[in-house]
Amino acid sequence: MTTLDHIPALRDAALAAVARAGSLADLEEARVAHLGRRSPLAEVLSGIGRLAPDQRGPVGKDANAARRAVEDALAARREALEAEEMGRLLAEDRADVTLPGDPHPQGALHLITQVRTEVEDVLLALGYAIADGPEIEDDRHNFTALNVPAGHPARSSSDTFYVAGHPDVALRPQTSPVQIRAMEAQQPPVYVISPGAVYRRDDVDATHSPMFHQLEGLAVDEGLSMAHLKGTLVHVARELLGQGIEYVLRPHFFPFTEPSVELYVRWTDRRGRAQWLELLGAGMVDPNVFAAVGYDPERWTGFAFGMGLDRIAMVRHGLPDLRLLFESDLRFLEQFA
Ligand code: DAH
Repeated sequence: MTTLDHIPALRDAALAAVARAGSLADLEEARVAHLGRRSPLAEVLSGIGRLAPDQRGPVGKDANAARRAVEDALAARREALEAEEMGRLLAEDRADVTLPGDPHPQGALHLITQVRTEVEDVLLALGYAIADGPEIEDDRHNFTALNVPAGHPARSSSDTFYVAGHPDVALRPQTSPVQIRAMEAQQPPVYVISPGAVYRRDDVDATHSPMFHQLEGLAVDEGLSMAHLKGTLVHVARELLGQGIEYVLRPHFFPFTEPSVELYVRWTDRRGRAQWLELLGAGMVDPNVFAAVGYDPERWTGFAFGMGLDRIAMVRHGLPDLRLLFESDLRFLEQFA
């Protein structure tokens, strides 16, 4: 038999091995065995030069054709095996999109956050901007610039939480320090509100908590009067509690305002008992406060107000106990979700 006669058998053996390969590893083995450097077909190809001259042409032609046929078969088989492999991986990884999903509980805003954003919205609509301030404050912003004199009870460590070892640093007992920061940061006119947590040394009971929430307001402009203050406060109270509310402004005292007032609203509780309820404190900014921030008290007038957000939540929803707002009991909170 001549070399030429061997070629079809070599080719068919190679094609059969390729067809039999059940995996990519088998296929690689078949490739090495039938097309690799030591394979019979490779030996035929490399031996062409040693053949009789009249044999070289036909053997070269047939051997190359056989090699191409095996290469084509290898490529086709590789593609098929890769597709099979991919199909198997996909099948293993299959998700049944018709199965019911895992329930994902939706969160909701805390009641205090709801009340806060509601009050913010009322005042933002009047042109106020929201100002932020630190909860750990120095003496100037907590007291001195707010015209709170030395020896005032609010300065005592039985009312206010001081930072140990720092007699001039305390948790703010009210949001009023943000007024000072807002005025230090800009020239009039100023229209800012500042919501946030405040801290006082109170024992916890149904109406007291050492941490609660206030919202402060400050307006400074030319020609502001008590009429502007009253109009603003009554508008806010009506938006929050209803257009029909009865209210009264009573004189009061705050160090940082003169004159000062408290706004009371007539409120009917859940048991049908009507009572006067203090909703907020307010007043015309004391000239000493303007002087402390370098505003000319002869030119600028202003008013300020501060209200308790937790109290508004309690009034509106008839909550019997302030602690409900801070205990994070979902059975309570979910009622407002
Ligand atoms: N800071 C006062 C308080 O905690 C509330 C308050 C009253 C704020 C009068 C004001 C104000 O800005 O002018 O009771």
